[in-house]
Amino acid sequence: MNQIASATAIANPNIAFIKYWGDKDPMLRIPANGSLSMNLSNLQSRTTVSYDSTLERDELILDRKVPDDLAVERVTRFLDHVRHLAGISYYARVESENNFPTGSGIASSASAFAALSLAASKAAGLQLDERSLSRLARRGSGSACRSVPAGFVEWQSGEDDDSSYAFSLAAPEHWQLYDCIAIVSQEHKKTGSREGHALAETSLLQNARVGDTTRRLDLCRQAILNRDFQAFAEIVELDSNLMHAVMMTSQPRLFYWQPATLAVMRAVVDWRRNGIPVCFTIDAGPNVHVITLADHSSRVIADLIQIPGVSKVLVSGPGKAVRLSVE
Ligand code: DP6
Repeated sequence: MNQIASATAIANPNIAFIKYWGDKDPMLRIPANGSLSMNLSNLQSRTTVSYDSTLERDELILDRKVPDDLAVERVTRFLDHVRHLAGISYYARVESENNFPTGSGIASSASAFAALSLAASKAAGLQLDERSLSRLARRGSGSACRSVPAGFVEWQSGEDDDSSYAFSLAAPEHWQLYDCIAIVSQEHKKTGSREGHALAETSLLQNARVGDTTRRLDLCRQAILNRDFQAFAEIVELDSNLMHAVMMTSQPRLFYWQPATLAVMRAVVDWRRNGIPVCFTIDAGPNVHVITLADHSSRVIADLIQIPGVSKVLVSGPGKAVRLSVE
């Protein structure tokens, strides 16, 4: 007889204020340094996992399409670990959908693997606490461990599988920070973060960046806890520039910026000089995350869309923890 066990979970992606770049252990995704982020309330992945005794392999549907073999392999490797933890052997059908446009240049692996961790473990009959769920999500995609807890989140790098996980520093209601993502390109990036992490070590600057992380984490954590935008802005921009300096000086080098990326960075710095609470941070792509306070967001969005090369702006406040869908 056909046996099915199923669960659906929802997770938000996150934007890192102190970035993860480089691994101590690439298989387990133990990062070279700790990082700090905010979940993004308006963007989400919704994932259903159904273990089915009649399946002969795992099946994956992403945004209503069958993805390439590499994506299926990555999910199967992840599910193998969940099956091992739960002591089950059934293959699963995984259906995942993002509410943000596919190819909008927003990395979806964080929300996708956070939602997959909860749906896959729940459907397998596991009751994982937040820390265990974060550790599990980390194996799928490093930054996914930060999409498990709520609001403002820190990922302590740790030394091994047990000690490397993320926890909430402050609830979403703590500070009304808005991320206005200026989309300057919808192209799929040529070098993904997995290959990028592996190149970090080839930059002369990576050791200096990693060696200074505790100081930057302390400053950023304090700025968030004190809601001190000026201090926050300085450290967030420095951290983003440090990561991009490592990317640009690795071998082979990685340049993610487009001319419009730099135009937005310059505008943001000018606006801040003129008293607007605003700063930028950029991940492994050309789009610019422009962080501001809720009260200033309408003005910032209107000004961003005027910059040549900016095609649209996606806006989010602080998001919740990963959760089961009740429907
Ligand atoms: C630049 O978590 O996407 O966004 O573990 O290979 O999936 P994988 O890497 P990923 O790397 C994120 C890199 C970053 C910085 C950050 O989010 O901290």
